[in-house]
Amino acid sequence: MRIAVLSETDAAEPRVAAVPETVKKFMGLGADVVVQSGAGLKAGVPDSDYEAAGAAIATSAEEAARDADLVLKVRRPGADELKLLKSGAAVVAIMDPYGHDAELKAMADAGISAFAMELMPRITRAQVMDVLSSQANLAGYRAVVDGASEYGRAMPMMMTAAGTVPAARVFVMGVGVAGLQAIATARRMGAVVTATDVRPATKEQVESLGAKFVAVEDDEFKQAETKGGYAKEMSAEYQKKQADLVATHIAKQDIVITTALIPGRPAPKLVSEEMVASMKPGSVLIDLAVERGGNVAGAKPGEVVTTDRGVKIVGHLNVPGRLAASASALYARNLYAFVETLVDKEAKALAVKWDDELVQATNLTRDGQVVHASFQPKAA
Ligand code: NAI
Repeated sequence: MRIAVLSETDAAEPRVAAVPETVKKFMGLGADVVVQSGAGLKAGVPDSDYEAAGAAIATSAEEAARDADLVLKVRRPGADELKLLKSGAAVVAIMDPYGHDAELKAMADAGISAFAMELMPRITRAQVMDVLSSQANLAGYRAVVDGASEYGRAMPMMMTAAGTVPAARVFVMGVGVAGLQAIATARRMGAVVTATDVRPATKEQVESLGAKFVAVEDDEFKQAETKGGYAKEMSAEYQKKQADLVATHIAKQDIVITTALIPGRPAPKLVSEEMVASMKPGSVLIDLAVERGGNVAGAKPGEVVTTDRGVKIVGHLNVPGRLAASASALYARNLYAFVETLVDKEAKALAVKWDDELVQATNLTRDGQVVHASFQPKAA
């Protein structure tokens, strides 16, 4: 069983799909691991560390991918990479499948078995493979660090001989995995933290982290959570009430961090132009949903926008990649945990159990077809 770890071809992706610790574990499963030279550099892992863990270093993607049974990546393989893979190879990555039908077909045509880590079901057995959680957690932390560095004042209250610096007021909108970590981080830095979400279960979580919960708690709110634990899209009426409440609150905040997402839908618009205009000069908004359309009016993907009133709107892309070493270490462990389930340990070979629910949930292409039920080509 030959496992290849390729360099990411997207210049905006500094993460890597394996770290020395997981290389060792793959070798323990009886695999040969080949790492493309330089694959880990941006995540702080030199070739020599992979070699010390037992991997072979290949000088090109072509050499690394040759005869590989399993290819590990952070992002979906592009056309140039697909040419290098043998038919029947398994590729595990964050595939970003929604709205990318042509790319899914290209993977099917290449004959690979593609697995999308972000489609892993959120069940107990698969928690250790949950890349959405591992990466969102780091993004939530980083959002606060980025917010603090863009903010021209201190986060904690400081009483000094020269006078008192007040604590920063941080408001977190959307209390999923990223939002919870943002609350915890902002609290540790000494900020006064409030948070909002449409799922009632979050109220207790917010309060247990020492923050205050702010939301319109009407009947619709009480039913806003799906069975899967995600948010529903709220009615126009609820959104209006929510916006009125947020409008008065946000004008008093120093740093706003937005993380609100609804699966399969564009991100809800939570902060309007008027709300941004109501904030004090020097305030900062960090929009973690910017890649999915954004929660904040005026947020631009990949940019820090300063409004004419001196409010900054931060739209960094790939926020987990801003902590490439930590993000890679956690992602690599998520991958290992999944791949372990695809291997026959006695035969020391890849032996995918196609009827396993984890495989069914994540497998996009197989034997030349797009096989995932959610991504079937539409009938003409
Ligand atoms: P997400 O990334 O889909 O959304 C982030 C947050 O935005 C959610 O809390 C959502 O309720 C909120 N949101 C959506 N619309 C909003 C609006 N209009 N206003 C304010 N907030 C809004 O969520 P994430 O982080 O993926 O977590 C979703 C759920 O999954 C949570 O209940 C989490 O605890 C649960 N979860 C379960 C896991 C497991 O069982 N293995 C692992 C990780 C998370």
